[in-house]
Amino acid sequence: MKRVDDFRLRFGDKEYVPIMIGGMGVDISTAGLALEAARLGGIGHISDAMVEDVSDRRFDTTFVKDKTKLYKHNILNMDKSSVQFDLERLAEAQRLHIGRTMEAKKGPGLIFVNCMEKLTMNGPKETLRTRLNAALDAGIDGITLSAGLHFGSFALMADHPRFREAKLGIIVSSVRALQIFLRKNAKLDRLPDYVIVEGPLAGGHLGFGLDDWKEFDLHVITQEVLDYLKKEGLSIPVIAAGGVFTGSDAVSFLEMGAAGVQVATRFTVTKECGLPDKVKQEYFKASEEDIIVNGVSPTGYPMRMLKNTPAIGAGIRPGCESYGYLLDASGNCAYINSYNREVLANNGSDKGISVMDKTCLCTHMRNFNCWTCGHYTYRLKDTSHKLPNGDYQLLSAEHVFKDYQFSTDNTIALPEKEL
Ligand SMILES: Cc1cc2nc3c(=O)[nH]c(=O)nc-3n(C[C@H](O)[C@H](O)[C@H](O)COP(=O)(O)O)c2cc1C
Repeated sequence: MKRVDDFRLRFGDKEYVPIMIGGMGVDISTAGLALEAARLGGIGHISDAMVEDVSDRRFDTTFVKDKTKLYKHNILNMDKSSVQFDLERLAEAQRLHIGRTMEAKKGPGLIFVNCMEKLTMNGPKETLRTRLNAALDAGIDGITLSAGLHFGSFALMADHPRFREAKLGIIVSSVRALQIFLRKNAKLDRLPDYVIVEGPLAGGHLGFGLDDWKEFDLHVITQEVLDYLKKEGLSIPVIAAGGVFTGSDAVSFLEMGAAGVQVATRFTVTKECGLPDKVKQEYFKASEEDIIVNGVSPTGYPMRMLKNTPAIGAGIRPGCESYGYLLDASGNCAYINSYNREVLANNGSDKGISVMDKTCLCTHMRNFNCWTCGHYTYRLKDTSHKLPNGDYQLLSAEHVFKDYQFSTDNTIALPEKEL
């Protein structure tokens, strides 16, 4: 029986272990996690979600504090259109986060950054342009365009000297989304270097409907994308993502012609993952019934999360003056509307209110209180040892990576017991 290590992901004349660790914002896929993937010959992702906050935490910068100070006067105002990102500062944070990560890179693999279009940041086009170009400035190996259709994103960086050299890829959940992306970008004469096909069992936001995600299957969509590319004579590596839990699951995609897999959930319980240890234990202990797909994300995309996540039902004041990553071009966010509705129903006070239909995603992600996860999170307990106190032993990213790379027969190697 084959194992993942029998395959290689090729970009030009370079070969990699065909395992990508997916981008997990906000700083769940840390630089440390991505660096491990690169050291081991695969591909790791950092994420640029809430990059100013990530920079503050990593490098003691004061982007968030300064922005809060600047817009403090607006905190009680529900019109957030004046709360703008300073593009210079945004670029500085992006260059720091990415540049320092790239400086630390060792080994034969690559580091990509996950850039979500849904981070509209009160100025969708200009903030995305800034993020993409600053990422290229900082020497990132590649950019994965996610959470959105990204029809115009290639054009936003087309003038950058590294536009044709860096690896650029897109996440799609259907062959149709890929077709439209390719059509919209045809005039740039620049194909994506890889396409990640993300199915309905992934963590984070899903590219399917809240009611119909169960009807889709990653093998089927991957096959459709492979067939389409073949028919068009396009040789673009296809990476399958979402619910690939064992090395054998990965092999099933590699054998059908995928060039690699993107995985994330199994790495959420590694020491290198950015989630607090307490939250990692929540992931370990979750049962199948604890994992839900809901509509609380203000992005409008369904999101998978643990149902006991503190992000559901909290009634916190929108934190846009400090963050504001989900404000649309006119300064709106669906959470603000829901929050206002509840405040109004509570005689104008936010004391004790609970907002059930939407969540303040920026604040909750920033505080690791939105426990987004993949469908198979309930199987994580089978990947480690239960300790006498009922907790589970955390894993190393290297252990999980190598388990994907070398395991066969759907087995999962347990780590050595730590004393
Ligand atoms: C905790 C968590 C956070 C995630 N955050 C993001 C994100 O910010 N952007 C994104 O494009 N994908 C995100 N994803 C999706 C992963 O990058 C990946 O494609 C997917 O989860 C792979 O499936 P698996 O988790 O079943 O291995 C996230 C996944 C998890 C588990």
